[in-house]
Amino acid sequence: MTSIPQPRLNSAKFKADPFPFFARLREEAPVYRATLPNGRPAWLVARYDDALATLKDERFAKNPRVAVPEGGKAPWVPALLRPLTQNMLDLDGADHDRLRRLVHKGFTPRRVEALRSRIQVLCDELLDTAISRGRLELMRDYALPLPITIIAELLGVPKKDRGRFHHWSSQFVGVSTPLSLVRALPALWRFTRYLRRLVEDRRAAPQDDLITALVQAEEAGDALSEDELLAMVTILLIAGHETTVNLLGSGTLALLQHPAQLELLAGNPELADTAIEELLRYTSPVSIATERFAREAVSIADTSIARGDQVLVVLVSANRDQRQFPDPDRLDITREPNRHLALGQGIHYCLGAPLARLEAQIAINTLLRRIPRLRLRRPVDTLRWSGGIFLRGLKRLPLER
Ligand code: HEM
Repeated sequence: MTSIPQPRLNSAKFKADPFPFFARLREEAPVYRATLPNGRPAWLVARYDDALATLKDERFAKNPRVAVPEGGKAPWVPALLRPLTQNMLDLDGADHDRLRRLVHKGFTPRRVEALRSRIQVLCDELLDTAISRGRLELMRDYALPLPITIIAELLGVPKKDRGRFHHWSSQFVGVSTPLSLVRALPALWRFTRYLRRLVEDRRAAPQDDLITALVQAEEAGDALSEDELLAMVTILLIAGHETTVNLLGSGTLALLQHPAQLELLAGNPELADTAIEELLRYTSPVSIATERFAREAVSIADTSIARGDQVLVVLVSANRDQRQFPDPDRLDITREPNRHLALGQGIHYCLGAPLARLEAQIAINTLLRRIPRLRLRRPVDTLRWSGGIFLRGLKRLPLER
């Protein structure tokens, strides 16, 4: 047993700089027994090799009822939201693969690549507004509107409904505690009702959008039920939204803190590929992968994990492991190879990875090109980070030019 004291893993203060704690875990307690804010115990897997192996290991299930069919307790979910648990990130084996195959039919590389020019136009429009105002709060004015507009357009949410859609989806991603869930229920109810109608509309009058593609995949004999469709759209929205927001926010901050790297990228926009991989590694927008449960007794790094135990793979720690990345705390936008785990690994590897990369490459390059003398408006140590276990991102990033 280790004597390393546990910080409050979901506190904003800890999220601001979790690196020293995880560096210590990697050396002294690579599989660490933690108590989560909800009082449940969980094993934190801190080293790169163990993290990679765990993400790929079928002895871990996402669904606690799959891990321990006779006693696995799933957290309480209001009836309204129960259909949404039928999403691929919460499922295993054949149930997962079936949903992933169906969404692949709609979420094609062609559909993503077709967004390139639209992403560029949107980045320019957002920056035009900020530049004419002379100030930019990066999260509100750029990092947030970009991914949410793109995902709404990709899905096929009509322009006139985008305002409402943004409001509802932000209520969704804002849910972090049972109380906030209860508060958000009316908005969530309106959101699911809206989505059901949108699906009906597309069924009646198909369009060239992802919702139609999902409806049609359903009709090609390999059926997505109505609830599964709803869950699919919701997971795409949630998984595709705050994650990218955080990459743009924390990635921009990392560049501002490393002016030589910022200069290098500004002068060589063709480095965007490797630069975005490094920003993914360095910032880990998903700091901890979603929960997994042992289906049988397993040993990781000589630590015994009992059947049914919860395991959390700490991506933000694996991505700074010196066993895998030379000089891991150094930001190097030309780093290669860079096999980071920021987008997960194994069967749940990020479905939206090509879209996330495309958005980030265009957004960061455009920001550096349009605002060459970008500066922080406040000292770094006064910036506030969001709380919560899984994601890591800034609340606000005030900039000036
Ligand atoms: C920088 C942006 C992003 C990051 C860092 C990110 C990260 C991740 C990670 C770490 C996972 C695996 C979680 C786990 O195994 O517990 C994941 C899965 C997923 N991501 Fe992303 N993601 C990003 C953007 C997106 C986008 C833009 C979309 C869709 C539009 C998306 C859709 C998904 C979906 C659907 C899954 C579940 C896949 C499955 O269960 O098979 N993500 N993502």
